[in-house]
Amino acid sequence: MAARIIDGNAVAAQIKQEIAAGIESLKKKTGIVPGLAVVLVGENPASMSYVKSKNRDAHEIGIHSEQVNLPVTVPEAELLALVDRLNRDPKIHGILVQLPLPDHIDERKVINAIAPEKDVDGFHPVSLGRIMTGEPGFRPCTPFGIQKLLVYSGVKVAGSHVVIVGRSNIVGKPIANMLVQKEEGADATVTICHSRTRDLPAVTRLGDILIAAIGRPEFITADMVKDGAVVIDVGINRIEDKSHPKGQRLVGDVKFDEVSKKASAITPVPGGVGPMTRAMLLYNTLESARASVGR
Ligand SMILES: NC(=O)c1ccc[n+]([C@@H]2O[C@H](COP(=O)([O-])OP(=O)(O)OC[C@H]3O[C@@H](n4cnc5c(N)ncnc54)[C@H](OP(=O)(O)O)[C@@H]3O)[C@@H](O)[C@H]2O)c1
Repeated sequence: MAARIIDGNAVAAQIKQEIAAGIESLKKKTGIVPGLAVVLVGENPASMSYVKSKNRDAHEIGIHSEQVNLPVTVPEAELLALVDRLNRDPKIHGILVQLPLPDHIDERKVINAIAPEKDVDGFHPVSLGRIMTGEPGFRPCTPFGIQKLLVYSGVKVAGSHVVIVGRSNIVGKPIANMLVQKEEGADATVTICHSRTRDLPAVTRLGDILIAAIGRPEFITADMVKDGAVVIDVGINRIEDKSHPKGQRLVGDVKFDEVSKKASAITPVPGGVGPMTRAMLLYNTLESARASVGR
């Protein structure tokens, strides 16, 4: 039977409506407009396009957003000074430095310089530590989006075996730590796999929920998926396709055609996790603005 498609665009639209209402109410009660600063270093085309969408999303929903463009040659100290200035700017509740940064800049140093109370990307060690201990805090946008997508689409996470392929700091490790928490939308049994996992298909076949965050086009094939599993495809990969007007198209880390015949539910690429990631940045920015006035 064909899997149910988990529509990330629809869920993200619903969440954005809730965020817009929250922004309105905060403005009315306190006069505070949530503010987001997006910092772009250099002219990497993918980063430029991400930053543009993040700014547009913020603007559309009523968040004050500022984009700061720095040349690729900017010294690390100058970037750190900018982060320091934004940390102290009361109009700004969220700071996002678009990654990757050029080689001469230490990414960790820059992320660590962001004030944890403005870390709407959720990459600061304080935010990541709070996931581990189950304390409230900013959740990184992609893992947070995955969790919301599961909850809003009625997937039962509690008690399920979630198998995650990928152990990056931005997706695999945080989502694993979030879903293992003793709380609503979590309480899962979690397994993390990576490139050194022995007999990967035998492990992925155990997953009631399988999350693929690998960065390899169509890597997860039907034989790696349990019958009736829920499959969340985080991957965004551009592959050549001469039949496509642009000569290329986007695919996920999951071989959609065959896996969608075996899974009970699946996210498409595009239109699955991607829009949720964007929505959760807005969510975190609103939460940060609320916290700044103790609401
Ligand atoms: N939709 C969104 O909003 C969103 C957001 C972020 C990322 N993404 C996409 O998600 C994908 C993953 O991103 P990422 O930043 O997490 O990637 P990453 O940092 O490159 O991590 C990839 C992970 O996959 C594992 N892996 C690679 N080859 C493997 C193999 N043959 N077998 C098993 N595991 C393997 C790696 O294992 P090792 O650790 O052993 O190397 C690593 O843990 C990318 O396509 C990215 O574009 C999408």
